[in-house]
Amino acid sequence: MKIFLDSANIDEIKRTKEWGLLDGVTTNPTLLAKEGNDPVKQLEQICNIVEGPVSAEVIGLEWENMVKEAKELRKIAENIVIKIPVTLDGLKAIKILEEEGIPTNATLCFSPLQALLVAKAGGSYVSPFVGRLDDIADDGMHIVEEIVQIYDNYAFDTEVIVASIRHPMHVLISAQIGADICTIPFNTIAQLVKHPLTDVGLKRFLEDWKKLEAKAKR
Ligand code: E4P
Repeated sequence: MKIFLDSANIDEIKRTKEWGLLDGVTTNPTLLAKEGNDPVKQLEQICNIVEGPVSAEVIGLEWENMVKEAKELRKIAENIVIKIPVTLDGLKAIKILEEEGIPTNATLCFSPLQALLVAKAGGSYVSPFVGRLDDIADDGMHIVEEIVQIYDNYAFDTEVIVASIRHPMHVLISAQIGADICTIPFNTIAQLVKHPLTDVGLKRFLEDWKKLEAKAKR
């Protein structure tokens, strides 16, 4: 399973890359607004660091505007993937862009039927938002399971990016289901490596080593 960082923060992107965990990045208007810089310059900086795909979202709601914006965003870098919302106009934009060789990531996906339509339109990626479904007492991970099964049934090429991840269990279940990618916030990536027994074990090894050193000095 590939790991994408769900962030537009340069420091977080650099640190995740240094850990050897960065397969790609997803941004959205909220994440870019959080950084407060010119979004094009911010995306340029991100693309200079990231070797894999970097998702950048269009703002327009009509397919003509989506396609126009997508072409502008693609001028930033070769690894830009265009995030398009799952609407009828969005599906049309996905079809046009993919036919022109521009990869898309269908965002704000909340149902397996939406994901089916994205695959039919030829989208490169689909992003089911699991945390936001959990927030309204739905079962986000169940929807991912349904999408993966539908894509397997028909051998669709669209890759599933599990998005709106809130905690490590979302990542674990994604891997068990066989989702292609998880896009994870920085703090959750850092949580994945944590285990209390690792900390206790490390503390004990270091204490024992110090005892041995002290004995050798006597
Ligand atoms: C994914 O591409 C989105 O940027 C993101 O996962 C949304 O997550 P949120 O629900 O925490 O805003």
